[in-house]
Amino acid sequence: HEEFTKVKNIATIELGRYEIETWYFSPFPSEYNDCLKLFFCEFCLNFMKRKEQLQRHMKKCDLKHPPGDEIYRSGTLSMFEVDGKKNKVYGQNLCYLAKLFLDHKTLYYDVDLFLFYVLCECDERGCHMVGYFSKEKHSEESYNLACILTLPPYQRKGYGKFLIAFSYELSKKEGKVGTPERPLSDLGLLSYRGYWTRVLLDILKKHKGNISIKELSDMTAIKAEDILTTLQSLELIQYRKGQHVICADPKVLDRHLKAAGRGGLDVDVSKLIWTPYK
Ligand code: COA
Ligand code: NA
Repeated sequence: HEEFTKVKNIATIELGRYEIETWYFSPFPSEYNDCLKLFFCEFCLNFMKRKEQLQRHMKKCDLKHPPGDEIYRSGTLSMFEVDGKKNKVYGQNLCYLAKLFLDHKTLYYDVDLFLFYVLCECDERGCHMVGYFSKEKHSEESYNLACILTLPPYQRKGYGKFLIAFSYELSKKEGKVGTPERPLSDLGLLSYRGYWTRVLLDILKKHKGNISIKELSDMTAIKAEDILTTLQSLELIQYRKGQHVICADPKVLDRHLKAAGRGGLDVDVSKLIWTPYK
């Protein structure tokens, strides 16, 4: 199969104040095949072969943040919603960029059908992209996230957990349960496992009396299957008298919560101003 024989072409990119080593192949247009390094405008994500081109571009590019609507702002963190249909070139540029860090995702689909949620750290120079996730406008499989990326210089700081939490806050506003598109990468699965564990065990710790998977799903917008596999992998589901029972021994919960790592940056729902896409 052709896809498996493709070799990583672009070795590094420049984006804002960072030079970043790439991880995987990305299908840039053929005129970029001879490039080892690409220079990205950190705001419109147009990419160029030479530093001088980028410098000239930066003088005339008037974007200081992703195109689209700012739907969340808390401190220096902002989230922008970009409609792939209204901002096709931006959406395509983002996909080319993201593929450099995504292994098995095919990003060759139509950006028209997706919304992009771009997380930024903002200062006086503008809003600098930290990461993003994409979401199908209409998903029959109840996917609430297609691709997720934290740019390497920003990884392991809790932004991934923030993006995942944000995707579930959108699902709650839609009144739907959601699940990420599969397959997940190893790092993606680790991040989700951690998120699911923390959210579910926090509830179980506080809750008094019986609680069902369905109730947990209603409270969190996490799909029932993901709740079941999470609790099963933690060995918190027991089979007693013909019924599945969730074990909620506080000591056991605390041990798992500790192992699930830090909670990361919280989404302040009061700062999310958003209505579902129609
Ligand atoms: N090694 C070990 N554990 C890791 C890890 C690494 N390199 N990166 C993430 N994790 C785990 C940890 O449990 C971490 O929690 P902790 O820091 O409290 O221990 C948790 O995942 C999430 O960390 P967080 O800082 O919130 O995530 P992130 O901002 O680094 O982003 C991804 C996580 C998956 C978005 C990021 O690794 C990424 O963009 N990867 C490339 C793209 C990709 O694979 N996307 C998912 C497939 S669609
Ligand atoms: Na990480």
